[in-house]
Amino acid sequence: MLFSKQWFLFIAMAIVGLFSSTAAAEDAHSYARLDEVSTPHLELDLAIDFDRKQLRGFAEYTLQRHSNSNLLYLDSSQLTIDKAEIWQHDQWQPTKFSLGDVHPSLGQELIVDIGSTATKVRIHYHTATTASGLQWLTPAQTAGKKHPFMFSQSQPIHSRSWIPIQDTPALRLTYNARLTTPAGLLAVMSADNSLSDNRDGEYFFSMPQAIPPYLIAIAAGDLAIQAISDKVAVFAEQYIVDQAAWEFADTPAMIEATEAMYGPYRWDRYDLLILPPSFPFGGMENPRLSFITPTVVSGDRSLINLIAHELAHSWSGNLVTNASWRDLWINEGFTSYVENRIMEALFGTERAVMEQALGYQDLLANLELLEPNDTILNIDLGTRHPDDVFSQVPYVKGQLFLMYLEEQFGRETFDKFLRQYFDDFAFQSISTAQFKAYLQRELLAKHPQVVSMDKINEWIHQPGLPEDAPKPQSDAFAKVEQQMNRWLKGGALQTDSWTTHEWLHFINNLPLDISADNMARLDREFNLTSIQNSEIAHAWLKLSIIKKYEPARDRLRSYLLTIGRNKLVSPLYRELAKTPDNLKWARAVYEQAKPGYHPLTQTVNEALLYNKD
Ligand code: BES
Ligand code: ZN
Repeated sequence: MLFSKQWFLFIAMAIVGLFSSTAAAEDAHSYARLDEVSTPHLELDLAIDFDRKQLRGFAEYTLQRHSNSNLLYLDSSQLTIDKAEIWQHDQWQPTKFSLGDVHPSLGQELIVDIGSTATKVRIHYHTATTASGLQWLTPAQTAGKKHPFMFSQSQPIHSRSWIPIQDTPALRLTYNARLTTPAGLLAVMSADNSLSDNRDGEYFFSMPQAIPPYLIAIAAGDLAIQAISDKVAVFAEQYIVDQAAWEFADTPAMIEATEAMYGPYRWDRYDLLILPPSFPFGGMENPRLSFITPTVVSGDRSLINLIAHELAHSWSGNLVTNASWRDLWINEGFTSYVENRIMEALFGTERAVMEQALGYQDLLANLELLEPNDTILNIDLGTRHPDDVFSQVPYVKGQLFLMYLEEQFGRETFDKFLRQYFDDFAFQSISTAQFKAYLQRELLAKHPQVVSMDKINEWIHQPGLPEDAPKPQSDAFAKVEQQMNRWLKGGALQTDSWTTHEWLHFINNLPLDISADNMARLDREFNLTSIQNSEIAHAWLKLSIIKKYEPARDRLRSYLLTIGRNKLVSPLYRELAKTPDNLKWARAVYEQAKPGYHPLTQTVNEALLYNKD
């Protein structure tokens, strides 16, 4: 009797499970239960308190009920919840809430009692000084030195450290916000920023298009504004605003090129916010306002593929969004592909192929370091923190997959397919399985015998690269290699026409047994130790660690002390951690740099320098 009852329950649960398998339930990185109650709109009211390094105020959600549950499940991390209220019978009434145990990567589940009739919920809260999604800079840590600066980096799961929220990319919500700052500072968001010079300390925002939570963004500082066109402007500290407007002058042309290929830009304005050098990423595609590292303002427009990349996310990522972090390749692979198409449209094939080849080399190096299972596009993250598994795989393997499809079906057919894809899934979040079904229906079935589903499954579900994956080869790089071989035998280098890309290829491919004399010879002729281009400097400094080239040490120290973009910093710490003397030196530099590093840069590099096993 008992036995059969258990079986009955088991079968009933399996059936319920089968029918309630929504995208939300499939996001292992969120406590949200979108199939029970979802939150399609947010009203945010926050004071930006630089003295306490704290955001304080409330988040108010419109409730959409899909079941008779009277509980709302939210994500939170290091938040203090001051009180919760529900809107019912035309007034705000206090309600009960509870916080779950702290999970090492997910934070805490926040459960709010919303009764059975409330239409809105308000959560009053404040953030921790250590919020993982925020960085607070003192005036001394800014270029202007007079005012503090703060910014958010919410992707992938850091929104919950500054807003109690259903922090899954399967949710889409609109938002309005009111922010207050000390007078004189300007606050901006991933919303309808104003170009006016009002600095009264109270700012209102509206984002009427439904976006996933990881695209909610905020920054405040002593910002100047410089227009590039009537649709594009740069927000930045005064010291760099003109240089950045010059560096990124091609942005309007990039928008036009992308629209011609993939349909209209649907977000109204496209502005760029240049952050302090501690910004942990190259760029972040916050809608209407991409956040950009100052390390790409190189003075020669050689690193503007970053702008092409963040702009491309206005189609791949922001319009069509990965439903969970296992599907990140749907954001980053498509975007890397579109980025490269934009670069080709504006600057021609040679540059586009050089950029493909550099990405390909990075991927191959990455594949060496990764567990095979972590080289799968539709990766199994479990509940590991997505930041801990960040790699080139979703980017470059994803891009190669789309390049492969383009090769097989031809550009015309593939472009048509992609354009339709952006239309069909506009303002939706999709899983890898949904993409596969769409690909089967709209491309494979319509052009039979070109690519099999087995091949697609190999790309998406198998580790490494398929045998017949594209292998980008650049003629320009082949010439660099010829020159390198002559130079290694004592000949001269003709570098006058070399671009940043050729320099990167040259340095990255120097033989590791290069002599100390040749290192010195290079440095003497080309001043590599003092070069200001952040990417070339990075490549050279990394080599200098491997080769124990001491004259570059001071530059290495100042580089690590002034730049916090993790991609430029962590390979250097990783290299330094390989020998005891260097590790000791690196720890000392790190401790000095740490107060200026973003929480993400701190976490990643402390793992490299202190948790070595
Ligand atoms: N959206 C990403 C950054 C990101 C991805 C943050 C996943 C957190 C989790 C952004 O668009 C990006 O890819 N930036 C790259 C740009 C590069 C590939 C041109 C970067 O920051 O290096
Ligand atoms: Zn990206």
